Amino acid sequence: MVETPRAKTSTADPSPPPAAFSERVRACFSGAALDYEGGARIQRAIAWRLGHLCRPLAIGVGPRADLGAGTGLLARAIALHRPDLNLLRLDNCQALLETAPPEAGASNHLLWDLNWGLPAQLGGASLLASSFALQWLEHPQLQLDQWASQLARGGWLVLAVPCSASFQQWRQAAERAGVPYTGLALPAASGLVEVAERQLQVVRCQRLRFSRRRPQALAFLRELKAIGAQASPKGQLSPAELRRLQAHWPPRVGECPLEWEVLLLLARKP
Ligand SMILES: C[S@@+](CC[C@H](N)C(=O)[O-])C[C@H]1O[C@@H](n2cnc3c(N)ncnc32)[C@H](O)[C@@H]1O
Repeated sequence: MVETPRAKTSTADPSPPPAAFSERVRACFSGAALDYEGGARIQRAIAWRLGHLCRPLAIGVGPRADLGAGTGLLARAIALHRPDLNLLRLDNCQALLETAPPEAGASNHLLWDLNWGLPAQLGGASLLASSFALQWLEHPQLQLDQWASQLARGGWLVLAVPCSASFQQWRQAAERAGVPYTGLALPAASGLVEVAERQLQVVRCQRLRFSRRRPQALAFLRELKAIGAQASPKGQLSPAELRRLQAHWPPRVGECPLEWEVLLLLARKP
């Protein structure tokens, strides 16, 4: 099922989102749709972990969805352990939704901009799963709060989000080079946990660290671009700025690694 949100639902953000950045994010992911799964290594590993976490969960009859599903890495990882669940895959990037392999459930998707909240059909959800998507929304905390409010009693939130302690080395290199840090402003893990705890009983909360030893600045930025994750509210660096960033990037020998901080949450609505 493919549908574009036209009017706000009762669960939507009270103020309309600035569409421009959301559109830029969508265009970047769209341009990389065919290459996404080949480059999305961390996302694949996290999807696998989340899928495993879903195995023992008692999940009721309400709607179930993968929010910001892209090509369905998470929905498929969950289906491996729980083929009974059949998640609806929501995303605002048609190209990614359509690139999903047939086992993702080709027809079971909805084109939807999550900046508008959740569609009414997900009211009383029994499972809301999301991996590496919340950080792209305009107001991650507000949206998380709304996701929690959409869950039925006994419903589960299964979430992974890269957080603000990621990429310190990139920030420092940008500062030394005197160029803007063009990474996405990632949400603070503590703030998201606080929001989740307002409505949910947190069963598992982990801050995972993933590090990359080798990439130099340009190679790393190319990796982000290869999966369509390069959109930045600060725009892109000029070639001269990129050269400066490269020159101030930690050297290969004795370098501190480039780190992702990923918040993993498993929580239940009491
Ligand atoms: C890094 S990808 C993660 C995709 C998938 N969850 C995974 O783990 O592979 C981020 C996803 O969030 C989606 N996304 C970003 N902004 C969105 C929005 N406003 N509404 C819906 N989806 C959005 C992108 O289209 C993309 O599919």
